[in-house]
Amino acid sequence: MRPHVIMNAGMTLDGKIAARTGDSAISSKEDLERVHRIRESVDAIMVGINTVLADDPRLSIHKIESDAKNPLRVVVDSHGRTPLTSRMFNEEGETLIAVSLKADPERVERLKEKATVVVCGSGPVNLRCLMKKLYKRGVRTLLLEGGGTLNWGMLKEGLVDEVRVAVAPRIVGGRDAVSIVGGEGFPTIAEGVALRLKKHYLLGRDLILEYAVERGG
Ligand SMILES: NC(=O)c1ccc[n+]([C@@H]2O[C@H](COP(=O)([O-])OP(=O)(O)OC[C@H]3O[C@@H](n4cnc5c(N)ncnc54)[C@H](OP(=O)(O)O)[C@@H]3O)[C@@H](O)[C@H]2O)c1
Repeated sequence: MRPHVIMNAGMTLDGKIAARTGDSAISSKEDLERVHRIRESVDAIMVGINTVLADDPRLSIHKIESDAKNPLRVVVDSHGRTPLTSRMFNEEGETLIAVSLKADPERVERLKEKATVVVCGSGPVNLRCLMKKLYKRGVRTLLLEGGGTLNWGMLKEGLVDEVRVAVAPRIVGGRDAVSIVGGEGFPTIAEGVALRLKKHYLLGRDLILEYAVERGG
């Protein structure tokens, strides 16, 4: 058993979730509010370590008025590189860092002062193992908030159930700019993740698209 996973991103029309410099200020105020409404409704939010290092996100519900408790924050971080000074540690609620056996035990001890640490796998974090552990901890719904490398890892393993994107009316290009899904990629279009469009609407200047995953990669 594993949580129901919603992958969400704000991207440019050319599928970039950051510019080549790392600037990721894509989302409009309305879109940030939409994302925080999703945060309100899930048990956990998950990001990859590069997103923590690049953006130092708070990973809490703070863009809307809400009585909801912050969802569990999950960081996928095989080496345990999450900075102890990360802003998310100042937010109410629990943080869980998923490391692998690659992480230095001393580093793990330091992280335990700030977060719950779970070990999954010996190379990159074993995402199936992580999903199982989260389910056992009561996580039934999880919002996957990137970046592109972690999105690929989750899609490749068939662990994503829904995809929601806000398409901003902007093109940034850049071969090194992070796309909504990175990694190795599927070798053919036919092998790609099949989606079914469930809903679409305009939100300010952005087009919101919501898909169900019909068939994993
Ligand atoms: N616009 C948006 O909606 C949005 C949202 C989020 C992020 N972003 C942007 O995306 C960029 C970061 O994306 P990114 O692709 O570079 O990195 P990322 O997906 O945030 O983090 C990837 C890292 O996670 C770790 N990891 C451990 N196990 C993994 C596994 N099984 N599968 C995948 N990753 C695993 C790896 O680092 P280790 O080997 O060290 O463990 C990997 O390099 C930033 O520029 C950020 O601003 C934009």
